[in-house]
Amino acid sequence: MNQLRTVGVAGTGHYVPEQVLSNHDLEGMVDTSDEWIFTRTGMRERRIAGKDQACSDLCYEAARKALQDAKMAPEDLQLIVVATVTPDQLLPSTAAFLQEKLGAWNAGGWDINNACTGFLSALSTAYGMIASGSVDNALILGAEVLSRIINYQDRASCILFGDGAGAMVLKADHPRGQIIFNTTGMDGSQWDAIQRSAGGSRRPIDHEVLETKEHLMTLKGNEVFRFAVAKFRSLVTESLEATGHTPRDIGMVVPHQVNIRIIDSAMKKLDIDPERIYVNLDRYGNTSAASIPIAFDEVRGKGLLNEGDLVSFVAFGAGLSWGSALLRW
Ligand SMILES: CC(C)(COP(=O)(O)OP(=O)(O)OC[C@H]1O[C@@H](n2cnc3c(N)ncnc32)[C@H](O)[C@@H]1OP(=O)(O)O)[C@@H](O)C(=O)NCCC(=O)NCCS
Repeated sequence: MNQLRTVGVAGTGHYVPEQVLSNHDLEGMVDTSDEWIFTRTGMRERRIAGKDQACSDLCYEAARKALQDAKMAPEDLQLIVVATVTPDQLLPSTAAFLQEKLGAWNAGGWDINNACTGFLSALSTAYGMIASGSVDNALILGAEVLSRIINYQDRASCILFGDGAGAMVLKADHPRGQIIFNTTGMDGSQWDAIQRSAGGSRRPIDHEVLETKEHLMTLKGNEVFRFAVAKFRSLVTESLEATGHTPRDIGMVVPHQVNIRIIDSAMKKLDIDPERIYVNLDRYGNTSAASIPIAFDEVRGKGLLNEGDLVSFVAFGAGLSWGSALLRW
């Protein structure tokens, strides 16, 4: 087998819809309060896509910016991977809609369904294909219109999520943002922790489903909470040990934006300075697959990275699934 090529980050971009859904708005929809939501999650508001916006529309805005940043034309792209649990349609892929919108006619593409871990799954897939020489570049996205699958009568879940998209262009032998580690895992015995039980082949949508709202997302928040704290810590530790680093070497942690209490408690145990953890869940809530690429693009936009910084991505979600990656900026 040929030697693996290095893979770096050539460009990033993100997009969030204009409409804001605040904690105060939610107070008028379910039995909750701004105080409860903020103290239990750290969230203040989230963005909601317009009625005419589908997942690929959000992708398009983020992708345009990432391509511009990478100084690439859509025709240069060889692969498009969209991580989402809220595709435009169940068939065909959102990547197909995005390819047409961009005019990226030379790219192959597909979607990945891995919930909040989805963006890191897309990164892992594209990394492997570029490193092995199958393609020279890839546009990867995490994008969600979660507002379409949220039960806005369920106060335990509807307060948590928002819509948005983040994009990244990966390129062979690109010197900046080289991926030096990535890993992925899953425990399928916990498939019912976060799910939409109807709308697939097991339980197609019918009148009963619409009445019981089984086509919408449900979650066992407490179980996910405990799992997330433990997994967060072990993922960061594993990536550092595998590459011969310690927590002190990390320039910036860009975690999945799940809940400030989960992030804080994991970071305390890892002894990582809070200033080196990027959090934007107060403004966007949990945008599932979109949360890491949106956050990372903001980190770059704010000039928070120095050349040579070690950047840690860590995510977990439905499956239950998890993933992490380390980049050298
Ligand atoms: C959902 C989550 C915020 C709940 O926080 P928590 O501190 O675990 O709260 P609990 O679920 O124990 O609920 C505590 C109480 O608040 C109530 N409550 C739940 N949601 C509420 C809301 N929006 N407003 C007010 N009260 C609420 C509960 O009914 C419960 O009341 P009780 O004590 O009378 O039974 C937290 O568990 C979490 O963030 N989990 C992970 C989220 C997740 O799965 N994300 C997707 C995957 S990445």
